[in-house]
This record gives sequence, structure tokens and C-alpha cells, in this order.
Amino acid sequence: MEVGDIFVADHGVEPVGMLRIEYFLSDVPLIASVFVLDTFRRRGVGRLLVDYAGRSMRERGHRLLYTSAGTDRSTALTWMRHLGFSECGFLAGAPGESGTLFLRRPL
Ligand SMILES: CC(C)(COP(=O)(O)OP(=O)(O)OC[C@H]1O[C@@H](n2cnc3c(N)ncnc32)[C@H](O)[C@@H]1OP(=O)(O)O)[C@@H](O)C(=O)NCCC(=O)NCCS
Repeated sequence: MEVGDIFVADHGVEPVGMLRIEYFLSDVPLIASVFVLDTFRRRGVGRLLVDYAGRSMRERGHRLLYTSAGTDRSTALTWMRHLGFSECGFLAGAPGESGTLFLRRPL
């Protein structure tokens, strides 16, 4: 299901995952959050959400999809790289905080 910039994966009537797009620099799409219920992980739901949102962004004229995660979130970063996202930028954190890595994937 797609409502504006929110994408929801259903299993029957039960929502099992969601992905939300935000825009930076006015119109550059960024995955602001993606989440799959524990019991439905490792079954392709996250990939489905990213691919579906990517197609939707492409249909809206975008050619790149961005995502980001803290440098201390190695599991999320590994997953994103596995889905074909490549690093393209780094935003330093406040003193004592880890920074944020930005990754992108062509659409
Ligand atoms: C990250 C998350 C969305 C992945 O969802 P998922 O439905 O389990 O992912 P999928 O099953 O679609 O996995 C897609 C591919 O990534 C791989 N994968 C899944 N989790 C992985 C992990 N932790 N590390 C490495 N690869 C992983 C799968 O094996 C699969 O590979 P394949 O398609 O080549 O077989 C889910 O674990 C989650 O909700 N985590 C908590 C929130 C979070 O960290 N979100 C991401 C940052 S915002």
C-alpha cells in the first residue's frame, strides 16, 4: 500500500513493514525510516519495500534514492550496502556522537 510518501507491506490485513520517504534539498528522496516486524524479517519484506519505493520515485522523475544511518549502526549499513546502496557522504556528529553516513542507489 502506498499513501503519499509512506509505503506499507501487508500480510493479509496485518501491516508487517513500512518505509517512509523524506526529501532534502527540496526534492531529493531519502529513506527516512524502514522497519519490518521482527517475526517477518529475513523474508524479503525490506527489499520489497525499498524496490517498490524506488520504482515509485523513478515514476515521479527521480534518478537516485538516498538513505542514511549512524556510523555505529553497522547492521543497518550492511543491509543497505547489500541492497546496492553505495556511500556518498558523511555528516560529522556533535562532539562525542557518531556521525551519519549517506548512501545512494541509482533508480
Ligand atoms: C533492516 C530491516 C528493514 C531488513 O528487513 P528484512 O525484511 O529483514 O530484509 P530482507 O529480508 O528484505 O533482506 C533483503 C536482503 O538483505 C539481507 N539481509 C537482511 N538483513 C540483513 C542484515 N542484518 N545484514 C546483512 N544482510 C541482511 C537478506 O539476506 C536479503 O538478502 P538476499 O535478498 O540477497 O537474499 C529489518 O531488519 C529492520 O526492520 N530492522 C530494524 C530497523 C532498521 O535497522 N532499519 C534500517 C535503517 S533505518
